[in-house]
Amino acid sequence: MKIILIGFMGTGKTSVATQIGSMLQWPVIEMDQLVFERTNTKSMHEVFAKGGELLLRETEIEISKTLATAENSVISTGAGVVMNKINVDYLRQCNGKTFWLNGSFSTITARLADDTSRPLFKDVAEAKSLYDFRLPLYLKYADTTVNIENKSAEAIAHEIVNAHRKGHHHGE
Ligand code: S3P
Repeated sequence: MKIILIGFMGTGKTSVATQIGSMLQWPVIEMDQLVFERTNTKSMHEVFAKGGELLLRETEIEISKTLATAENSVISTGAGVVMNKINVDYLRQCNGKTFWLNGSFSTITARLADDTSRPLFKDVAEAKSLYDFRLPLYLKYADTTVNIENKSAEAIAHEIVNAHRKGHHHGE
């Protein structure tokens, strides 16, 4: 069983995953961190400098493949995993369920206002078109949609853990 968090940059995947991990006593897997390990880098800017977005996307596919058989873990994905369906297919193996952290673009921009760590969130207009492009993909790949507006990471984590316990998903 895996809880997989998907959603745009700045929707709180990392914080929510950490909360879920401590609630369920499950390890938390941070995909961006695994990208750094595999590409021998320390930041997304370094990944992009080394091999562009393509290096990130190829590495994500390799990582998703290795995570296919992960058991009882919370996976915090990079927001771009939905760009390649194969990632979602791998991650969903062995009873992996995706939870989409869905928030408005204005909430996201407010949260990322002082953040300089994301190469794909430099220009607000460009980020908005990426957001619009990605929205239907998150919708398509979400087993469960979680509205994040005006909720703390802890509240969102509780919602996901409750849905998971109630078996709000198939195949348990
Ligand atoms: C990206 C999102 C980032 C990171 C990279 C690219 C994207 O992850 O993987 O900067 O394509 O939207 P977060 O969702 O953790 O910000």
